[in-house]
Amino acid sequence: MVGKQYEWADGAKLEDHSRRKHKILREYVFDYISVRCKLPQQERFRLAIVDGFAGGGRYQCGTAGSPIIFLEELRRAIDAVNTHRTVQGIGSIEIECLLIFNDASRDAIELLKTHVAPIQAEIAQECSKLHVRVDYLTEYFEGAYPKVKALLDQGRYRSVLFNLDQCGDSHVERNTILDIMHSYPSAEIFYTFMISSLLAFLKKNQPEQLQARLNHLGLSSADIEMLNGVMSKNNWLGTAEKIVFDAFSWCAPYVSPFSINNPGGWRYWLIHFANAFRARQVYNNILHDNARLRTH
Ligand SMILES: C[S@@+](CC[C@H](N)C(=O)[O-])C[C@H]1O[C@@H](n2cnc3c(N)ncnc32)[C@H](O)[C@@H]1O
Repeated sequence: MVGKQYEWADGAKLEDHSRRKHKILREYVFDYISVRCKLPQQERFRLAIVDGFAGGGRYQCGTAGSPIIFLEELRRAIDAVNTHRTVQGIGSIEIECLLIFNDASRDAIELLKTHVAPIQAEIAQECSKLHVRVDYLTEYFEGAYPKVKALLDQGRYRSVLFNLDQCGDSHVERNTILDIMHSYPSAEIFYTFMISSLLAFLKKNQPEQLQARLNHLGLSSADIEMLNGVMSKNNWLGTAEKIVFDAFSWCAPYVSPFSINNPGGWRYWLIHFANAFRARQVYNNILHDNARLRTH
């Protein structure tokens, strides 16, 4: 896989493309909570958030990474929801959220704990309607997944949000995405997929390595033959992207990709998987608002 080492302990640099991704994630979490807490008679909302490639929590410049974004937006959203409810004369709502933060790097998780602790303490002191529990794991995501599932099953969570911000294209099996989407009535996944590194690899046309590399996507040999057939033609890129995207589109009823470019020339997809139409709508509204960032 083509990936990048994150040096969390020495301070990781926040790149522009990550800033864009974070903006979308931040806006989505806020809107997600607002929508899921809309029913006036609802007194409680339980959810679990799994950040499978959580990182160290803050970048060198101090800017929040995804785990901190989740905590900050949970808090901002419950405050907004309850303020609105008070104005409407409706009783307030409580949110109970399990956050599971996993990263293969022990350094990253140790650093993350130091950034999470003060926010957790602040929430406990100042936000009586928000109940968060944070669990940490330090494993490769595929190895951690059975433990994550056991924790979710233990707590009987029905609403789960996964952030699978892998650095590359091969750290998450397509079957795992399918399993998540089928295991919970309200499941959503944010999944980053480095399409340009996969395409570069495909171009090398080495059938055996290719088959091995594509196994985790569940692509068939017929798909690969089709690719080989158009390898020298102009529409190769479009065909390759379509085949890869089709493999993902089977994973959930609603699959929305967003392409993020880096000035360095590579490109990745931020794919949102959902099994509720309303979730797709919320995501698409955010993409629409971020349209000027959109590259396709
Ligand atoms: C793109 S960074 C995560 C950034 C973070 N989500 C954020 O938005 O601030 C990718 C992280 O994945 C971790 N990592 C790499 N391979 C992994 C794997 N197979 N399983 C879990 N974590 C992995 C790296 O240590 C790195 O911290």
